[in-house]
This record gives sequence, structure tokens and C-alpha cells, in this order.
Amino acid sequence: MPLRICQIAAEVTPFAKTGGLGDVAAGLSRALGKQGHDVRVFLPFYARVVKLDFPFVAVDFLRDVEIHLGARKFTYSVFTARLPDSAVDVYFVHCPALYHHDSIYSGEWDEYLRYALLTRVALETCQRMGWAPDIVHVHDWHTALAPIYLRTIYAWDRLFAKTRTVLTLHNLGYQGVFSSQVLEEIGLAGHSEMLYNEDLAAGRVSFLKTGLLYADALTTVSRTYAQEIQTAEHGFGLDALLRARANHLVGIVNGVDYGEWSPESDPYIPHKYSAERLEGKEATKRALLEKIGLPVPRQAPVVGLVSRLTSQKGLDLLFDTLPEFLYHRDFRFIALGSGEERYESFLSWLQVTFPGKVWYFRGYSEELSHWIEAGADIFLMPSRYEPCGLNQMYSLRYGTPPVVRRTGGLADTVEQWNPVTRTGTGFSFDHFTPEGLRWALDFALTAYRDVAAWKQLMLNGMAKDFSWARQVRPYEELYRRLAG
Ligand code: ADP
Ligand code: GLC
Repeated sequence: MPLRICQIAAEVTPFAKTGGLGDVAAGLSRALGKQGHDVRVFLPFYARVVKLDFPFVAVDFLRDVEIHLGARKFTYSVFTARLPDSAVDVYFVHCPALYHHDSIYSGEWDEYLRYALLTRVALETCQRMGWAPDIVHVHDWHTALAPIYLRTIYAWDRLFAKTRTVLTLHNLGYQGVFSSQVLEEIGLAGHSEMLYNEDLAAGRVSFLKTGLLYADALTTVSRTYAQEIQTAEHGFGLDALLRARANHLVGIVNGVDYGEWSPESDPYIPHKYSAERLEGKEATKRALLEKIGLPVPRQAPVVGLVSRLTSQKGLDLLFDTLPEFLYHRDFRFIALGSGEERYESFLSWLQVTFPGKVWYFRGYSEELSHWIEAGADIFLMPSRYEPCGLNQMYSLRYGTPPVVRRTGGLADTVEQWNPVTRTGTGFSFDHFTPEGLRWALDFALTAYRDVAAWKQLMLNGMAKDFSWARQVRPYEELYRRLAG
């Protein structure tokens, strides 16, 4: 029996993406659609999405609808479009008053309104479509109010009588904590007894914590992260609550959309390749180095990094490690990313200090991210914490063994290389210290010199299957269990 599944998320690739959330919301929805489920996805019609050259269609009966958030009145319309390569419809909530910002996240005072509105409009659109979802699946703090909304504002509606909710935790580092003065606007002023008392006493309300309390099931994006977040070290203050709900919490490793991320068919890269025909990788590496104007080294490996530049990603370890390595060892370093100033200026400094060896592109580029996955020899991901991480899985498929810290999803997806047995897929270190990274980077650069062994390492990684076709199954099982 196909299920009716409503997904609500702040990012959905290719429409809106700043990181893995977009890829996962899209990849999971696409995979569920392929399994025959009726999947409908809700996303804000951000100004940058409106500008895309895409056949968006206005939904007739959802034009200029009014909604009140406390004393504020908003008018919204809903547009729709197919999620590419799928039978899944995406519904875009058009409310220029809230989604006019240039970037996906406004970073301004109105963030709580933007996502409370998205969540409410998604549920109200289900009502107006007369569509009773079996599952409402929400992601991170942005849409975490859906479970409490279904128990309060929309509890009267029989349409949702059988609806069950799933909240996926992609990153506990972001919780959506606001002043409790917003309760009226987010529609919960009359239900404060259902909120976390200590927070209210301290004058705050947390979207994520509220979701943790009321979602029927909680998932996070790897098995190891599901354990880690129940500890004080990784729980971001929510570990006690997560331990209390441990029976309802499960870790499901993210899938990869190999339709988007495969060197055989990647439309961005100049030379296609596969495990059977690896020549294209070397050609792509040369093309990459030529494109960015780095002298092509004869033997030296290229180390690549593609990342949001935040402390989560472990970039602090590079400060002490990379300059020394670049001075003493022969390799090239190529980085793509933007974020916190200190990391951006460090990477810029590195480029100036090691001309011909380092290249840094500050910004976001889908195309370049594919070029680096394919053209680099080693992929760097020394995360402080990593709920799942997609880049290391992409790099495995592209024959670019990753150097990672053994945490969260990195621990679940990268197996330590063993040069004796020639098993394993990458290089991981345990301790979040410069020595840890130095050890792993040295291990990788040394291993690279043994051409035959390195090829085996590449092939081991390329043979791994993290496809959504596999990873969708535990989600289906969970949904079915909930839907009874
Ligand atoms: P996170 O979601 O924490 O950022 P993931 O590894 O799950 O980490 O996903 C990151 C995704 O965002 C990958 O698809 C990666 O290629 C992409 N990405 C990150 N930074 C950039 C950038 N500067 N340009 C293009 N893509 C980027
Ligand atoms: C978050 C995490 C990342 C994960 C992604 C998708 O942004 O930082 O580890 O892969 O969400 O689940």
C-alpha cells in the first residue's frame, strides 16, 4: 500500500540548497516517489527560487490566501513544480513579505515567522487539497513545530486523525531558539503548558525542542550520531531529553543520489570515468588544475575541500597543520567554501603564502564542487562533529579517498585503510587535535606513493553503495510502523 507522505523542509535541491539538508530532502523524496508513494514536498518560494528558469505553475485554488500569525496578517499563494527526475510534486509557498531576502536564511529577526508560516501553510494546503497525509516528515528546527501544530491548532480536523509525525535531526547545532514573546505569532500562546517550562521561565521558546517533545518518531542521519547526541559532549544541551526519548530515536545513514553524483554520468565534469575506466579521473585532475591556473604537478596529489566554513567542519585543525605540510610535502590544496571570516581569511592567506600550491574559491559553486570531488586525489573532512556528511560519500564514489575524523556519519561510512590487507576506503583519526589530523594526512600522502595499492583503495571506495534506493527502506519501515 502506497503511503501519503508530506515532507516540509527549508532546503530542497536543486531549488534551494546551502548544504546536505537540501540534498537529503530531495533524494529521500525522490526515492520514496520511486517506491510508489504519494509524496508532496513543501518549500518556501524564496526570491532566488522565483528567479530560476523553471516551469512553476500557480495552484488555482491557492491564490492570495490570508493567514494570521498573531496580530500579523500575511497573504500567500502556492506554486508547484516537479522535482526533477521524479514523479514528486514540490509546493512552493509564495509570500514575498517573508521570502524576499537574497539568501535562503535571512539571518534576521523574522526567521521564526518565515518557518512558522511555511509549516502552517503546508498543513493548511493539505487541508485545502483534502489530502490526508499518513506521515508528516519535518526536518531540523525550521519545520519542527508541525507535530505540536497537529496536536493544537489543527487537532480539530479529522483529516489529520491518522497522521503521524517524524522529525529528522540533521544538525543539533541549530535549534531555532527565540524570545517567548513570539508565542502569539507562532500560534502557541494558548498552549504554553505544552512547552518546555524551564525555557519559558527563561523567556525563550525552542522550535527544535518542541519538535523533540511531540514528534511521534525522531530520526537522525547516522547511527553513530544517534548515540553521540545522547551524550553531554554532542547533545548541545538536548542530551537528557534525547535519552528520555531514546526509544523513539533511530539513526538512518543518509543516502546518495547517484543520479547527481556519479563520475560516469556527471554533466559538470569534463571527462567521465568509472571503476573500469579510470583514465578520465587523471584527465579531470589536469583539466581542473589548468582551469584554476595551478601548475600541473607530475606526481603530487591534490587534496580537495568543499565545505560550509563553520567550526563544525573542524577547520581549526588546518591552522596548525596545513602550512607545515605545504612547506614540507609535495601536494596541492584546493578549497571551495564560504562562511566564517576567520576561515575565509585563513584560506586566502594560505593561497597567497603558497602560490602555485594552493587555490581557494570563496563562495558557492555547484559546478566547482563536482570538479573538486572528481579532480582531487584526496578529500579532506576533519569535522569536529558530523551528523552524517555527504561529501565523504560523494568522494568515495569519485575515487577520491577521504581523510576524516571518526565522528558521526563519517565513522559509519569511511573504513580505515589497511595497506597490508588492502582493505578500507579512507583515513580516519580519532582525536580532534592537530596531531590527529597530521597523522591521518601523513598516512594518506604516504599511501598515495604506492600506485597499485592506491588504485585498490580507490576501487574499494567506488564499490560502496550508499544509494537512496537502499537507504529509503528503513524510512519506509518506520513510516509503516507509525501508520500502523
Ligand atoms: P553540511 O550539510 O553540514 O554542509 P554535508 O556533507 O551533508 O554537510 O553536505 C554538504 C553539501 O553542500 C554537499 O553537497 C556539498 O557539495 C555542498 N557544499 C558545501 N559547500 C559548498 C560550496 N561552497 N559550493 C558548492 N557546494 C557546497
Ligand atoms: C547537516 C549535517 C550533515 C548532514 C546533512 C544532511 O547539515 O551537518 O552532516 O549530512 O545535514 O543530513
